Amino acid sequence: MKIAVASDHGGYELKEEIVKYLKEKGYDFIDFGCFSPESVDYPVMAAKACRAIQKGECDRGIICCGTGLGISMAANKFKGIRAAACSDYYSAKYTRLHNDANILSLGGRVLGPGLAIEMVEVFLNTEYLGGRHQRRVDMITAIENGEFPED
Ligand code: RB5
Repeated sequence: MKIAVASDHGGYELKEEIVKYLKEKGYDFIDFGCFSPESVDYPVMAAKACRAIQKGECDRGIICCGTGLGISMAANKFKGIRAAACSDYYSAKYTRLHNDANILSLGGRVLGPGLAIEMVEVFLNTEYLGGRHQRRVDMITAIENGEFPED
């Protein structure tokens, strides 16, 4: 599994902690930046991670901004991306089990590195359950493709 990592300036410090952790644990990842605390627009950084996943260069993504929200909103506009903005461990785990999320989005101004890294770890090591959840994930894809029927 290859991981795309990206952040804006608000998530930069947390992203650096995550990169250090991924390196230490021997994960295969690409760090798309940013590479300094200088201001950068979060949609630009979301695009880098999302395009790597769309092209099949990466399988999962970890993205960070100040809240984890703006960058996840931008990421979720890319086809095939299911980005979960999480601030707790349970959500980071269940968004893999139930939603087959391929991106975890974290807030550098919300989370400390200890919790964030536990969330990264569970996100990367939890398999999607499929089964009854697949129908709902397929509905998300149908919405994305403009194929969701009106009732
Ligand atoms: C940047 O100041 C901040 O708006 C951004 O990091 C993020 O929190 C947006 O949702």
